[in-house]
Amino acid sequence: MSLDLEKPIRTRPLPDEFPGVHSMDEDEAEAAIRIIRSKSLYRYYGVHPQHEVSSFEEEFARFLEARHVLAVTSGTSALHVALSALKIGPGDEVIVPAYMWVSVVAAVVNLGAIPVLAEIDDTFGLDPRDVERRITPRTAGIVAVHMNGCAVNIHRLAEVARRNGIFLLEDCAQCVGATVGGQRVGTFGDMAIFSFQLNKNMTVGEAGAVVTNDERLYRKAVAVHDAGYSRGLDEDLQMDDIASYSWGRGVRLDELRAAVLRVQLGKVETTISRMRRSKNRILESLYAHQQLSFRRRVDAAGDTSCFLLTIFPDRDSARQVNRLMRQHGIATKSPDTSNVLLANYGMHIYSNIPALVQKTGTDKRGFPWTLAENRDSVYSYAHGACPASDDLFERTQLLVVPSCLTAQDEDDIVESFHRALDAVFGSVAAPANRFTAGECLITPCG
Ligand SMILES: Cc1ncc(COP(=O)(O)O)c(C=O)c1O
Repeated sequence: MSLDLEKPIRTRPLPDEFPGVHSMDEDEAEAAIRIIRSKSLYRYYGVHPQHEVSSFEEEFARFLEARHVLAVTSGTSALHVALSALKIGPGDEVIVPAYMWVSVVAAVVNLGAIPVLAEIDDTFGLDPRDVERRITPRTAGIVAVHMNGCAVNIHRLAEVARRNGIFLLEDCAQCVGATVGGQRVGTFGDMAIFSFQLNKNMTVGEAGAVVTNDERLYRKAVAVHDAGYSRGLDEDLQMDDIASYSWGRGVRLDELRAAVLRVQLGKVETTISRMRRSKNRILESLYAHQQLSFRRRVDAAGDTSCFLLTIFPDRDSARQVNRLMRQHGIATKSPDTSNVLLANYGMHIYSNIPALVQKTGTDKRGFPWTLAENRDSVYSYAHGACPASDDLFERTQLLVVPSCLTAQDEDDIVESFHRALDAVFGSVAAPANRFTAGECLITPCG
């Protein structure tokens, strides 16, 4: 291999993902200070109530074109609230993708149900055919996780759920603002959840939301997220709404974070358009490489573009390209969050979650794995449980596309890809616009 192909391209780390953070400025600071000055940080009452949480809920509902939004403290708490509203418990199975985040299985297990893994396909979301194969008489629903900024095959999954009479919960934590056919993710299923944690397209550090068009589920979610009782239009507790009674989890969002989120919501389209521009520019330069393929996007125009997933023909070439690109300096300060092979992408991969592989219980009895109601739901979660996904994890490289990449950062990424690909597969003819900031080219893959 020529030494030129291995030479470092940059010494400064690439910026971290944090899409919403890069647009934070005085607007967010002013919103936070305004709320502290009001001395009214609680959503339901205060000395000078600001109604920031309810305003955020209305604005986010308008943004999604959804009927109900309930703001909560995190995406993880949103998953617990949504699955509680859907009345999941012992004896239920919930189908989850092999590629997700640990919180998805945590919510299922904490509620006493059993997670059932299903394969992902080249959308990096649930493979609808495999979901169909995993349905049993105990299946209560499906959690479709829109990973890495882009939608899964949501129309097909909604059709599978409908035909089998089970719920569809969309996890849109990584996908705020994505669309399919112009419709926002989070509006295709019975319920959806969002996260506004630091790495998300809009953020306040920690927060989340539950979304539904179903009034009944919304009322149950309100009860669970608060003290166990729904609330009326005046936000008073509705002690006579017996159908919504539950046990509260106390995961209400505060006014401070809601005020900041309202500002971030106003910036999210700009944040997405920046990432889209960078990603399309990088993608455009890679199409000449026949050996490389890309994550299939069900609707490329609706990709929020915070990540680029490249798929290699085999595990060895993936490793070699990844090693070379890291040697070139294509890495962020936190080494395991960008330019990584998916197999090493932490607890996004089912077999990297020790408590799942070992079926760790939440209490001394081994709840919920040891419950009589779950005795027929015995599954393996060790590597090999989803072989098609395992194969994709070994052959796929993940690169974050932060919302603040400069043209030089993009050039360095492109240069590194080309050098590494040339080194591993031999050179290809360079397209004319290989290193120039050309027009965005929207294609159905990437
Ligand atoms: C797919 C997915 N679901 C749920 C969550 C949980 O969100 P939070 O970190 O806000 O609890 C995350 C967080 O990264 C996620 O990526």
